[in-house]
Amino acid sequence: MSVHPLPEFDVVVREVTAVASDIVVLTLVRPGGEELPEWMPGAHLDLVLEPGLERQYSLCSDPGDRSMWQVAVLREPGGRGGSEFVHSRVAVGSELIARGPLNHFAFDAAESYLFVAGGIGITPLLPMIAAADAAGAQWSLAYAGRSAGSMAFAAELKAAHGDRVTVYSSEAGERLALDGLFGSVAEGTLVYCCGPARLLDAALALADELPSGVGALRLERFEAKAAGEPVFADSFEVELELSGMTLTVPPERSILEVVEEAGVLVLSSCREGTCGTCETPVVSGDVDHRDSVLTPEEQADNEVMMICVSRAACPRLVLEL
Ligand code: FES
Repeated sequence: MSVHPLPEFDVVVREVTAVASDIVVLTLVRPGGEELPEWMPGAHLDLVLEPGLERQYSLCSDPGDRSMWQVAVLREPGGRGGSEFVHSRVAVGSELIARGPLNHFAFDAAESYLFVAGGIGITPLLPMIAAADAAGAQWSLAYAGRSAGSMAFAAELKAAHGDRVTVYSSEAGERLALDGLFGSVAEGTLVYCCGPARLLDAALALADELPSGVGALRLERFEAKAAGEPVFADSFEVELELSGMTLTVPPERSILEVVEEAGVLVLSSCREGTCGTCETPVVSGDVDHRDSVLTPEEQADNEVMMICVSRAACPRLVLEL
């Protein structure tokens, strides 16, 4: 039996603050006021809202303040229930469980940055913007949303940073043109982009226009990207090196499901390839990476895989489980 170590904490909601129409910020603290773990810009938490209801939220507060964490939650009436739960049931004093932080959207040092946010995708970018600004880097933010009232932190960012921040409200007929933006960035600029799938797909499609190419583009997806047909359509074997088992994964089931059924514990959360919680080291074999977390380079390295969605691209995989 093996378990991925992921720290887990009881947290209490200290404040619930409305920051835009349908967006609240939860301020979370430890019940006894203890210091929270260190984290870096781009990190996210798994919040267990109630048993069986876990969701991932980007940390949007100041990493230097270890007394509290803040996450922003958009109400999505047609969503899977997590945001509705937060907006209707979570209040000051609510006790939740937090796991993490995890970071699959690492903020790397550069001389200049372009930040591109769509809607609630602004949240992981907030600490990055603060860090870039504190480091004296060149940076600009293009922030698109439905309307001025729906865009959390837009007014504060504009007030604090002026022309570095451009806000595009579709209700006001303003359109974020990524092609022009990407065509004008300087050599060596890192582009951090977070938002809805259509924005991220458009960014990926235009990444070749960046002076440093696709390697300069860093994406974080809140929604799983379309994965297409599996590379290997048949059943395949998974050898769990640490547990000493070999399991068969049929086409209609995930590796995670089969591994769990065999009694091997692996932490998981989103189960759709977006959070990174089920990341598992690969010992040998080719992987059909179907997640929305790893960069193309990380996928090509083949050192880890997200076993909730990724599969084998060969008859037998060996995993460090
Ligand atoms: S459980 Fe979220 S990536 Fe697998």
